[in-house]
Amino acid sequence: MTQDEMKRLAAQAALDYVEGGIVGVGTGSTVNHFIDCLAGIKGRIDGAVSSSEVSTERMKAHGIPVFDLNAVGDLDIYVDGADESNYRLELIKGGGGALTREKIVAAASKRFVCIADQAKLVDVLGKFPLPVEVIPMARSLVARELVRLGGTPVWREGFVTDNGNVILDVHHLEIVNPRELEQRLNNLPGVVTVGVFALRPADVLILGTPEGAKTLTADA
Ligand code: 5RP
Repeated sequence: MTQDEMKRLAAQAALDYVEGGIVGVGTGSTVNHFIDCLAGIKGRIDGAVSSSEVSTERMKAHGIPVFDLNAVGDLDIYVDGADESNYRLELIKGGGGALTREKIVAAASKRFVCIADQAKLVDVLGKFPLPVEVIPMARSLVARELVRLGGTPVWREGFVTDNGNVILDVHHLEIVNPRELEQRLNNLPGVVTVGVFALRPADVLILGTPEGAKTLTADA
């Protein structure tokens, strides 16, 4: 089974958690499968809040109404992918560069359902370079701080986020304490969002595997 087929299995299984109302929707290739599945039940939901322009376009093409987060209250559910998850469902996200809006919609949601292929589950976060969204004028300043913390930041050249900022992908971090690192990096002037999602981890992780979709919860 291909990685993409595993992503699709996880996306399909996430529909079980959708109970109507307005659904928070993330970004990425796994979420694209979810959006396509969501289109099949669009009559049962009121619409979605999107975490990126690209997901918004895909949902609109399917005729799914997309709302501004400011126009709706808290969401019951947020469905998004991840670049890595540990067994506590702390995540690295931002491979697609949508981490800021993803973190906002996750924070506004009662339940965060993460969908991924099985290769995303790791013991320790950090093999995947950690994306950090930075205000453009602070790029070098933040990069120097990240080097002091032991990382190797690489500017994602040519990429601008939906918020007009830049991304530093930080290599060579072994993230043994994700919550502490998230708090620490959040405090650096110029940092908009850190791709560690540990202060607000996922509640459920659905992994696509050759044996079918497997569900993990943080307390399992
Ligand atoms: C985008 C993300 C994605 O969820 C993450 O990169 C996973 O992507 P994919 O589903 O394509 O593997 O955080 O900012």
